Amino acid sequence: MPRPTPPVTVHDSLVLEPRDVHFDWSELPLHWIPDEPMATHTINVLHLLLPEGERWFVKVFKDALPMIRDEQLREEVLGFIGQEAIHAEAHQEVLDHLLGQGLDPRPYVRQISWLFHRVLGDKPGLTARQRRENVIERVAFVAAIEHFTAFLGNWALNSPGLDRAGADPTMLDLLRWHGAEEVEHRSVAYDLMRHLDPGYLRRIRGMAVSGPLLIHLWIRGTRFMLAADPTLDGRLVPTWRDARRAARRGLLPEPGRFLRSAARYFGPRYHPTREGSSSQALAYLAKSPAASAAAAR
Ligand SMILES: [Fe+2]
Ligand SMILES: [Fe+2]
Repeated sequence: MPRPTPPVTVHDSLVLEPRDVHFDWSELPLHWIPDEPMATHTINVLHLLLPEGERWFVKVFKDALPMIRDEQLREEVLGFIGQEAIHAEAHQEVLDHLLGQGLDPRPYVRQISWLFHRVLGDKPGLTARQRRENVIERVAFVAAIEHFTAFLGNWALNSPGLDRAGADPTMLDLLRWHGAEEVEHRSVAYDLMRHLDPGYLRRIRGMAVSGPLLIHLWIRGTRFMLAADPTLDGRLVPTWRDARRAARRGLLPEPGRFLRSAARYFGPRYHPTREGSSSQALAYLAKSPAASAAAAR
């Protein structure tokens, strides 16, 4: 009798490995979910936000490194930095491809860049104590945003509706490779925040700022992409009804589930490891075409 394949095991000590993936976008259609420009561009907002956002994560975590007093956590933070740096570049390549297809994302990306560099960037003239406080506050923002990236990653790993709709397989691999790494490293930012400040107020403030900001940026980004799409002539304006309809068909996360997930972050016993499955993430990474090619190089 054949022996069953053992499940992928997850160890307590997390070893995060940056996977140096590459994607070929030369065949990517503008509407990579066929005939679904609204769902395509709603997901495309990831490409608008993540290059600048994840480079900012890397900067914040590098600033926090000298404050870490735990060797295991330091290793996890270094692994997180390595993974996020590759994520940013992978999404940047999609942005460059969109530009080549006549959809210019730069006006929106300039606003995102301003947000991360000017509003959330380094503040000159701080005392050492104020600087430490500022770094911890930004780590708390990252921890809250990482709750959402893990939520979205978990959704991407469990989104058969995208396969049924005939979504481009290379884009699906990007979303699921990235999503799997988000699930894999979902506890690092939270654990770093708790290491630097275990207070409940810090955690809540991070989510109270990041949650509404992220939703606002996503709605604006979807509107921007639909308006900038040269094939639509500004005819398509997104509505909540369209979003809910797309979610029912499995093309987008359900808004209600997204909001309920955000609410869990406020729970006193919350920990990111209770969201999503590391085993499922590692199982996808073991079969992802891009991650497999990176492992073979
Ligand atoms: Fe990421
Ligand atoms: Fe992440």
